[in-house]
Amino acid sequence: MGPLQIKEILQATPENQPVTLKGWVRTKRESKNAIFIALNDGSTIHNIQAVAQPGQFPDELIQIVTTGACLKITGQLVESQGSGQAVEVKVESIEVYGAADPDVYPLQPKKHSLEFLREIAHLRPRTNTFGAILRIRHALAFAVHQYFNDRGFFYLHTPVITASDAEGAGEMFRVTTLDLNKIPRTEEGAINFKEDFFGREANLTVSGQLEGELGAMALSKIYTFGPTFRAENSNTTRHLAEFWMIEPEMAFFELEDNMDAAEDFVKTVIAYALENCKDDLNFLQNRLAEEDKNKPQNERSIPLLEKLSFVVDNPFERLTYTEAIEILLKSKPHKEKKFQYPVGWGIDLSSEHERYLVEKHFKKPVILTNYPKEIKSFYMKLDEDGKTVRAMDVLFPGIGEIIGGSQREENYEKLLGRVHEVGIDPQNLWWYLETRKFGTAPHSGFGLGFERLVLFVTGMSNIRDVIPFPRYPKSAEF
Ligand code: 4AD
Repeated sequence: MGPLQIKEILQATPENQPVTLKGWVRTKRESKNAIFIALNDGSTIHNIQAVAQPGQFPDELIQIVTTGACLKITGQLVESQGSGQAVEVKVESIEVYGAADPDVYPLQPKKHSLEFLREIAHLRPRTNTFGAILRIRHALAFAVHQYFNDRGFFYLHTPVITASDAEGAGEMFRVTTLDLNKIPRTEEGAINFKEDFFGREANLTVSGQLEGELGAMALSKIYTFGPTFRAENSNTTRHLAEFWMIEPEMAFFELEDNMDAAEDFVKTVIAYALENCKDDLNFLQNRLAEEDKNKPQNERSIPLLEKLSFVVDNPFERLTYTEAIEILLKSKPHKEKKFQYPVGWGIDLSSEHERYLVEKHFKKPVILTNYPKEIKSFYMKLDEDGKTVRAMDVLFPGIGEIIGGSQREENYEKLLGRVHEVGIDPQNLWWYLETRKFGTAPHSGFGLGFERLVLFVTGMSNIRDVIPFPRYPKSAEF
């Protein structure tokens, strides 16, 4: 299919055979005896070296072979004379598909800051770092589908436009075709959504879970994997306004099964990346080690591959929210008043509390369960005590919450009670409530924020750097 990619050519045995290279110039180096062109086509982190002779081509041509230019090179694949690579290409012809004027092309062969690269998101995939991240992101997405397919789950496509606020958090982007300069009003003066495209209020989905549950009540095991939107005004390194979420939903699973599923799932996809993205992970590991050189010894992170293997090889710590609060109350930072936010039963754990548990106390991923119902969504199954719900959050070092999930309330009366308690209009959820009337069953599920997974696996520190075109407050360019 198409010409050989540089990844394949680099693996071929050099027998002076003819090859064609197509890719973008990373660097050009001219010495007395040769012109070296490092070409990359994104198929691998590695460049291929093409070697031309001085005087072999007109100066005008060699002058426009600059970083960022796109070339077609033909030549012979030979054993490399140099030490950095096994093979190289003895150049016979060069065609410039597109030049990249070095006076204006922003990606020059030097270190660029991640902040600067964010401003040129249309070009940053051409850097080593973003090439590696995007290939790893792809591998993880593939592993997600493979994981579920191999285990009898069906991929359910839940709607992007919905009328429900699944999480009940009110962080929705509205979808409308109403003319904002001429908003239709009812007699009482309210906005008349009957005249809107869907004849009602509509928004972008914050979660596919509720529809996912409908799927599980028919197909037993489903998963969704799609874009998710949250209009939370969080300018943090862990939040995006548009992110991708994976939400499996399983009939006949209780909380314990759900935890087992979440742990096995996340370990398996990380193991897939370790197995299949070695070159890119090694590159990112070295990049992090370089960054760490400027930090004091005690702030340096453990090598990326070691961190990933550790997570794959060790059981996650499981404990209840109540136990976690006890640990926090006895902790040094609490006693020394070092936490910014107060600790006590009923609080929504803040990231400093989660990080203490994961990074300082247990030093491994943690699954917290049985949270107070007040700080969790309406659909979670009530515990016998009537105070806590069968929720589970998976917390990761450096990331905080990577997975949120629960066993669902399958009892119609109890669910309706919670709907009323939190102030949702049951009319809007009649279809969801009906699953509890017709053949209800225990079921559970969870949601993994895909970018938080990519963040963890790549070792990057800002979520805006692990999605090609990030969306966050005041930013929707590209
Ligand atoms: O904990 P959350 O809000 O759970 C749900 O949406 C449930 N419906 C999931 C379910 O049970 N099916 O979100 C789940 C995960 C979080 O753990 C986090 O990884 C990610 O989604 N997430 C975000 N990722 C990036 N940016 C944001 N603004 C995110 N909000 C949540």
